[in-house]
Amino acid sequence: METSNRVCVITGAAHGIGAATAKLMSLHGMMNVVLSDRDKEGVDSLMNQLNTIRPQSSIAFNTDVSDAKQMSQLMKAAYDRFGGLDILVNNAGISQSTIAKTADSSLEDWDHVIAVNQSGVYYGMKYAIPYMLEQGHGIIVNVASLAGLIAAPNHIAYAASKAAVLSMTKTAALEYGRKNIRVNAVCPGYTDTNHFDQLHETKPELKERLLRATPMKRYAKVDEIADTIYWLCSDQTTFITGQSITIDGGISL
Ligand SMILES: NC(=O)c1ccc[n+]([C@@H]2O[C@H](COP(=O)([O-])OP(=O)(O)OC[C@H]3O[C@@H](n4cnc5c(N)ncnc54)[C@H](O)[C@@H]3O)[C@@H](O)[C@H]2O)c1
Repeated sequence: METSNRVCVITGAAHGIGAATAKLMSLHGMMNVVLSDRDKEGVDSLMNQLNTIRPQSSIAFNTDVSDAKQMSQLMKAAYDRFGGLDILVNNAGISQSTIAKTADSSLEDWDHVIAVNQSGVYYGMKYAIPYMLEQGHGIIVNVASLAGLIAAPNHIAYAASKAAVLSMTKTAALEYGRKNIRVNAVCPGYTDTNHFDQLHETKPELKERLLRATPMKRYAKVDEIADTIYWLCSDQTTFITGQSITIDGGISL
């Protein structure tokens, strides 16, 4: 897969799936990687690691995806630094802090989860697409979730935000297909990250139950999600747009 020198912006790049994707894009794909996260220390540390191996190939920004202005500045900074913006991976996301049925769910949780998981993806696309239009090409991968495809009891805000990501993916793909911009999504199942550990802390028995329910009898590794994101950004998928790929060890079956 020839991807060298492409410019790739990744949100939520300090940990988990975002960090695994950033490493793959940089070290395997030989891309210039723009790392962003609300965790400044985490994202700076990854930048230093990558730049030690491939000098000046990566930069890091302390960006909160729920802030439209910061997202606009991120895309401009990426474009100015590397002279292009070829790929955007809208990965940053949070889980709910409370697990409760709809009537008992918290308004604060709703607002926060929608702001990060849904508006964050919208801001990413809104501010990256103008640069992609200017260059005449672009690739966007949005990280949704199994929870966007099927019911997710006690997680109304998370499920709604991820279903919205899938809807926005299809809409943007249709709008910009003729402009050579592809927009796809991935729907990870249960993946071993901090995000998933939070669920374990609030409901320890749930993690065991999910393992039993997964046909492949294990959780996904971050690299398995990163591999699919990378593939969707490669020249092996040049006619795929508006799709979502489920990576869940069969649990949705
Ligand atoms: N882990 C799973 O089981 C799972 C399953 C399905 C989907 N996902 C999705 O995958 C994506 C990545 O999650 P992960 O599992 O790697 O979680 P993670 O918690 O390990 O990493 C998430 C990253 O996003 C960053 N982040 C959180 N809020 C942010 C904000 N407002 N602005 C900028 N950065 C922010 C965090 O600092 C962190 O570095 C999320 O969108 C999540 O919803 C995860």
